[in-house]
Amino acid sequence: MKFFVDTASIPMIEKFMDMGVVDGVTTNPTHLSKEGVNPVEQAKRILELVKGPVSVEVIATDYATMVNEARAIAGLGSNAVVKIPMTHDGMHAVRTLSSEGIKTNVTLVFSATQALIAAKAGATYVSPFIGRLDDAGENGIALIGDVVQIFRNYAFETKVLVASVRHPIHVIEAAKMGADVATLPPDVLDKMFMHPLTDVGLKRFLDDWSKLSGKYGDVFRELGAQGAAKYEGHMAPKTKRAPQG
Ligand code: E4P
Repeated sequence: MKFFVDTASIPMIEKFMDMGVVDGVTTNPTHLSKEGVNPVEQAKRILELVKGPVSVEVIATDYATMVNEARAIAGLGSNAVVKIPMTHDGMHAVRTLSSEGIKTNVTLVFSATQALIAAKAGATYVSPFIGRLDDAGENGIALIGDVVQIFRNYAFETKVLVASVRHPIHVIEAAKMGADVATLPPDVLDKMFMHPLTDVGLKRFLDDWSKLSGKYGDVFRELGAQGAAKYEGHMAPKTKRAPQG
């Protein structure tokens, strides 16, 4: 399963890229508008920074303007994926763009029928918004199961990109169902690193270690110094690009 980070914040993107855990980025008009800078320039910066796919959404809602915006977004970087809303005009645009080899991510998908239509239109990704379905009293994760099964039944190449993820359980359930990608808000990604028993276990190890006294107390400090001397000037470079998605 690939992980994308769902943000337009460069520090957040860099944080997870440096750890090597994200394969791409999804933005949306809300994320880009929060950055307080020219959204097109910000999108370009993200496209340059990240090697994997970066979704950037059109703002137009009519077919012709959407296609114009989409072609321009695709021209911003070879890793650009154009986000198109799940509407009649949107699916017409997806058909045109896919015939031109432009990658698309159909957004605001809330039902299996919408996902099926997006796949038939030739979408590269389809993004069911599971958290917003849960918020509305529906079962978001069940939709992922349905869409994965339908795409498998008919061998659609469209990838299932789980969006509007609210917590790590969403990610685990989607992974068990075989979803291709989950796009994760930074706070959910952070939570995926954590377990209280890890903290308790680490504290216990360090407490026990601190009881070591006398001549053994400093052996690891000395070991660290040896490592630093051996690799002086050869520190691992900061990751500047996410793995290819
Ligand atoms: C996906 O690409 C969307 O940007 C995002 O997941 C929406 O999530 P939200 O419901 O938390 O706004």
